[in-house]
Amino acid sequence: MTAVFFNPLQDGFTEDPWTHLAELRESEPVHALLTGGYALFRYDDVFALLRDPELSVDDRNADLTELDRGTLLEEFDDDMEFESILGLDPPDHTRLRRLISKAFTPRTIEALRPRIEQMVDDALDRMADAGTADVVGELAFPLPFDVISEMLGLPDVDKEQIRDWSGAIVKTLDPIISDEEMVAAFEANRNIDGYLADVIEWKRKNPAEDILTAMIEAEEAGDRMSPKELRDQVNLLFVAGHETTVNLIGTGIRELLDHPDQATLLRDDPSLDANAVDELLRWVAPVQMSRRITLKATEVRGVEIPARAFVSTSLASANRDPEKFGPAAGELDLARADAGQHVSFGSGIHYCLGASLAKLEGQFAIGRFVRRFPNAAIAAEPVWNGRINLRGLDELQVAVN
Ligand code: HEM
Repeated sequence: MTAVFFNPLQDGFTEDPWTHLAELRESEPVHALLTGGYALFRYDDVFALLRDPELSVDDRNADLTELDRGTLLEEFDDDMEFESILGLDPPDHTRLRRLISKAFTPRTIEALRPRIEQMVDDALDRMADAGTADVVGELAFPLPFDVISEMLGLPDVDKEQIRDWSGAIVKTLDPIISDEEMVAAFEANRNIDGYLADVIEWKRKNPAEDILTAMIEAEEAGDRMSPKELRDQVNLLFVAGHETTVNLIGTGIRELLDHPDQATLLRDDPSLDANAVDELLRWVAPVQMSRRITLKATEVRGVEIPARAFVSTSLASANRDPEKFGPAAGELDLARADAGQHVSFGSGIHYCLGASLAKLEGQFAIGRFVRRFPNAAIAAEPVWNGRINLRGLDELQVAVN
């Protein structure tokens, strides 16, 4: 057999990463990346690694290669100290996650139901009036963006400007990016940071019943959260709050338009809404990969991974592993009994904090879309967002009537 190398830049990977991922899952499940670091492709390996308490997520514990760092980047050294919980280990992770989770209790999320329902219906009304509309621009992007902005209690914002900035930032989650993209990401991060610093100052003077006020109170109480930590957590919530769910809703609806039998199944049975969203999460993997860093030499399936190495976990590949999901792993089945076992939200102590919120948004957006527009059809070639990790659509024109 010829060697297979993970190459997300190959032709056609954006539209269909699945064939290449299946090849790797079968022949190179523990893969040394040409760009440095390793990648795992099988469900059991991914799941175990994500939950291993002996691993780190803190970049400072990894040996960066020249490729990781580039040469252009010295002027951005200070900006590399981004300390959100996604990149922190215990005990800092534990302390900060505890503070933030208070805002994401099941009760708080349940209370958002009527507001989310209303936002979805307003978007669907606008689409119905237009006849042909962009599902991403009208629904998949604004819904999670407006929900997280309201939860944080942000003042009215220039949505398109922030969309550009956060798009540039999440590009850094890709396995390969150019120096230009890296510089654009750091500049965008500075801009968002400046914007959030202003918002935090404004919020100190205008406290309200929102997450940002609660986080500011925790910061002002002293040693629980520093000003920089506060800014970095708000930044993470804001960006993670919409850059991921947009892919679930946009690509999820596109998959249903491509699988009319599944759309009909869902349309006729609203009790499937929650399971359908889990299956779509499994199927599209809105975040295609996560990662951990080894602190000591670690063996996976007989391959020794050295200390201080990045190990990427292909959530997208794990979700379609037949060893886990059976011979029909490669079929979309909204009634699948074990759909909820996907790893699209990661696992272990970094398991996605916004999982219930994302699922609720997905259920309303996708369930109500298929019921409102039984004759919906794709009206133009969908436009991809060009991201390898946060893979999704930038535009999905659909004729709805
Ligand atoms: C479909 C939507 C979403 C997907 C697929 C997703 C996926 C993920 C993944 C894969 C991780 C890393 C888990 C790991 O490495 O074990 C993560 C972490 C995180 N997500 Fe999400 N996410 C989504 C929506 C959201 C939303 C709506 C929010 C917030 C409002 C959010 C906030 C976070 C936070 C704060 C973390 C860091 C948790 C930690 O490090 O302890 N996510 N998410």
